[in-house]
Amino acid sequence: MTAPVLKPDSAALDRAGRLLAEGGLVAMPTETVYGLAADASNADAVARLYAAKGRPAFNPLIAHCASAEAAFAQGRFSEKARALAAEFWPGPLTFVVDAIETTTVCSLARAGLETLALRVPAHPAARALLEAFGGPLVAPSANPSGRISPTTAAHVSGDMGDKVDLILDGGPCSEGIESTVIDARGETPVLLRQGTVLAEAIEAVWPGLEAGGSADKPTSPGQLLRHYAPNARMRLNVATPEPGEAFLGFGPGKATLNLSPDGSLIEAAANLFSMMRQLDETHDRIAVATIPTDGLGAAINDRLVRAADRG
Ligand code: TXA
Ligand code: MG
Repeated sequence: MTAPVLKPDSAALDRAGRLLAEGGLVAMPTETVYGLAADASNADAVARLYAAKGRPAFNPLIAHCASAEAAFAQGRFSEKARALAAEFWPGPLTFVVDAIETTTVCSLARAGLETLALRVPAHPAARALLEAFGGPLVAPSANPSGRISPTTAAHVSGDMGDKVDLILDGGPCSEGIESTVIDARGETPVLLRQGTVLAEAIEAVWPGLEAGGSADKPTSPGQLLRHYAPNARMRLNVATPEPGEAFLGFGPGKATLNLSPDGSLIEAAANLFSMMRQLDETHDRIAVATIPTDGLGAAINDRLVRAADRG
């Protein structure tokens, strides 16, 4: 049985809210990638979610809230963290903070940690669902653990259609890569995952942003894991593809698919996962053009390096 795919009108949102209240799993669009939502307070639902994704239970989830006030009721935000939230919420920035004692986000969703990741998404369908449901929803990207994140409802349906109860189709995701994650517990923030909220933009509101850990020295459990893995082998920073390789281009020139013929990093981020998926279906080997490493290019290269790593 594959889950129904519905436009997020009021009937579909009502149905999704009811399913979540009963412990079901609902795929919802966000501005970054599609998320697989469950009631954050329901440990049985969260256990089902980990199982559906094949996600190791040491890797905690992001709790999504309808408003900054709702997030502040779950985690301890400093003055500086609140100022940053005021600037970027709703939007693609996730804060790791200390959980408050009365948090309704269950321990399983937090992987037993004292900390909690929180985000207020901007996508109207995600916001409407959070309003309809009336509490925090945990939502990892709606892909099997380790695979390429979904940016359309069709991606979710293909990957997870038999494991979820309902898929809300809010169209293609505008940002295309997952939220920026910062550890906001200290005097200065620490970057745990790069995303479309850029380091420079965070610095402008809360100076002193430090680089986070890496797979050798992880500061976020997610950094330990293999990610974004296509079946095809990927080669990066390629000027001239070899015979038989698909070429994922960037900027002017011949390519099998082009992330952005105009060389726009914003367009490239929005196309990245969807084009990786398309080429993965038709080719065993993918060569990727050089993507600049400045600005949003850093987040794009982070995803590409993980996708190319066979380790
Ligand atoms: O854009 C996004 O963030 C998407 C959409 C659906 O909102 N969600 C998403 O979730 O990317 P997920 O589960 O794929 O990634 C969550 C990341 C993981 O790397 C996890 O390790 C990290 O956040 N994380 C969660 N809680 C944490 C905590 N308490 N401390 C450190 N890292 C944490
Ligand atoms: Mg993910």
